[in-house]
Amino acid sequence: MLKTGFVGWRGMVGSVLMNRMIEENDFCGFEPLFFTTSQAGQKCSDIGIDIPVLQDAYDISKLCQMDIIVTCQGSSYTEKVLPDLRKCGWNGFWIDAASKMRMDKDSIIVLDPVNSEVIDNAISSGIKNFIGGNCTVSLMLMAVGILLKKGLVDWITTMTYQSASGAGAKNMRELLSQMNCIGEKLKNLVDDPQVPILAIDKKVTQTILSSTFPVKNFPAPLAGSAIPFIDKLMDSGQTREEWKGCAETNKILQTTTDKPVPIDGICVRIGAMRCHSQALTIKLNENIDLDEICQMIEESNKWVKIIPNTPDDTAKYLTPAAVAGNLNIALGRIRKLNIGPKYLSAFTVGDQLLWGAAEPIRRIFKIIVLKQTIS
Ligand code: HSE
Repeated sequence: MLKTGFVGWRGMVGSVLMNRMIEENDFCGFEPLFFTTSQAGQKCSDIGIDIPVLQDAYDISKLCQMDIIVTCQGSSYTEKVLPDLRKCGWNGFWIDAASKMRMDKDSIIVLDPVNSEVIDNAISSGIKNFIGGNCTVSLMLMAVGILLKKGLVDWITTMTYQSASGAGAKNMRELLSQMNCIGEKLKNLVDDPQVPILAIDKKVTQTILSSTFPVKNFPAPLAGSAIPFIDKLMDSGQTREEWKGCAETNKILQTTTDKPVPIDGICVRIGAMRCHSQALTIKLNENIDLDEICQMIEESNKWVKIIPNTPDDTAKYLTPAAVAGNLNIALGRIRKLNIGPKYLSAFTVGDQLLWGAAEPIRRIFKIIVLKQTIS
């Protein structure tokens, strides 16, 4: 039976992955072994299934016994362990949620509802590294990837509204501490209808900018504000997050060597918990009817949901709070811009931890298990 090692399964993305695997009854057809970077030899039962004693995640000879390794441990783990494993001749499948190897020549970025042909070809041709994509890119492609696949797009701008979860669990807590801090400081004033709103607003700004406001993980206060810079600055003036939009999309669709579709925009952190939103401007290369576009998108995968362009539907279905915790990719505000009939506007929301992180990993694991079991 196929042996699979799981690493980093107790972190945030790893926990979402475990929950989804349990929900979908995925723990069958292979023998799981759970690795840890800190608690080797201990017993652990906190994921809802019976699991054997934990193994050392740095034990190369133990890892070498695995047919498949699934890791949500992060890029530094990948960097430390994978080269040693390959040096030892390990030829198993490496499935990784971290970004470290995404752009490597011998890696495939996985998002099977969008690039299943690429994945199938890669498995047949002996590729062994399958890496989850950047969350913003995956969520955008789940929504409108079909337009790119059909060659209908000249370029896209993606203006993002990214949740705290994309920055990590600590950042989610920090956002909540910041909200708490404002709430506590302002409670009496807010409850008193006699206090003018501008006095309240002044106090909010003072609180957010005070030296005691909890800002350790984000580069600036996020609650009551926004941060238009995610990840490092690149020579191009883009942030690394913005750079990924074009680089990863074209790699996922394997248009890189052919004619990459330009994609760019501004990535912004906002005070949502776990859903990334994006405002898209898509320059089509022909004037396609809106109904036809919506039909293509709806038929492209079963998760994307077109939200009618009404205030009620938008408020009910097209917000981070409405989408949080479910697999639907909401796509609304779809219309032609008055700039011209080839300019399409849309707004999309998806769960950063599900389709943005754990779900493509869960699904590539299943695909590989199935293919290996059949062959
Ligand atoms: N880099 C993304 C973010 C999340 O900061 O929101 C990971 O794909």
